[in-house]
Amino acid sequence: MPRTVISIANLGKRYRSTVAVDDVSLEVYDGEIFGLIGPNGAGKTTTMECVQGLRRHDRGTISVLGLDPHRDASALRQRIGVQHQEAHLQKRIKVWEAVDLWASLYASGENADSLLKRLGLEAKRNAWFMTLSGGQKQRLFIALALIHEPEVVFLDELTTGLDPQARRAIWDLITGIRERGTTVFLTTHLMEEAERLCDRVAIIEHGRLIELGTPDELVRKHCPQRSVIFTCDGDGADTHLDSIPGVLSRTRNGAAHTLSGEGDDFVTDVISVIAKSGIRVRGFRTEIPTLEDVFLKLTGHGIRD
Ligand SMILES: Nc1ncnc2c1ncn2[C@@H]1O[C@H](COP(=O)(O)OP(=O)(O)O)[C@@H](O)[C@H]1O
Ligand SMILES: [Mg+2]
Repeated sequence: MPRTVISIANLGKRYRSTVAVDDVSLEVYDGEIFGLIGPNGAGKTTTMECVQGLRRHDRGTISVLGLDPHRDASALRQRIGVQHQEAHLQKRIKVWEAVDLWASLYASGENADSLLKRLGLEAKRNAWFMTLSGGQKQRLFIALALIHEPEVVFLDELTTGLDPQARRAIWDLITGIRERGTTVFLTTHLMEEAERLCDRVAIIEHGRLIELGTPDELVRKHCPQRSVIFTCDGDGADTHLDSIPGVLSRTRNGAAHTLSGEGDDFVTDVISVIAKSGIRVRGFRTEIPTLEDVFLKLTGHGIRD
């Protein structure tokens, strides 16, 4: 069994009449990237801030690295790293100054220059914060969250507002953080991000968890259907295609055939029948459901609606 580093049981948190977190229970394991995913207002940030000890929860229990986030707040601060949603710094603080300042808050930590290099910021050492691009700012915030070599790092909506290229660069960095053995607890409303990055995800809506598992598990469980779309000339294909096991539907639009079925072997079965029957294929693609489809299935609406 993997070691549990964060344990949340029956967490509840209200702001006056708003129930932000209703009932959340989950465990985050050592060395994994765990994603709390859900639409805006679902309770992701509130959950994360309770876990960090920044907000006092009303109900339930939380343990992080064996510590109570409230009772042991100062001990915990030395062992976790935090990047906040929509964080800011002074406009004219320089990159190296920010890193220096943060490093001074901790007893020990990584060498600032090697950290900046690792995050691709060495050329920006002397740049003012206000001159950095969105992606560079986020990389700086990651650097600040990592400066004291924490055991767990919290990243809240890290890539929101970034262009696809900057986003991919951040994804690489986060994977690198895991490779160094640090546990990552992140939130995102981007399903593609969760699917690419996270070892396990919990889907939260209206303050409640509605599913938890690896992205792959959730897709298989809730959206087992997959489709093969291919084009070929002539009418010869139709007779062969009827012999494919597990086909749930088959349609044809001119030269384009669409076959849908369920199960892990479905695509392989289609390929093998095509190969055996000597059909000359001109185009071929598959449509495999994603976490986005799982979300839609579970909630009845898209994550951005
Ligand atoms: N400081 C606050 N005071 C009052 N209500 C808040 C506060 N922070 C968040 N909320 C409300 O709590 C709910 C959950 O918010 P939040 O945890 O920020 O969700 P998410 O991070 O998933 O977008 C929302 O309805 C939000 O409007
Ligand atoms: Mg949030």
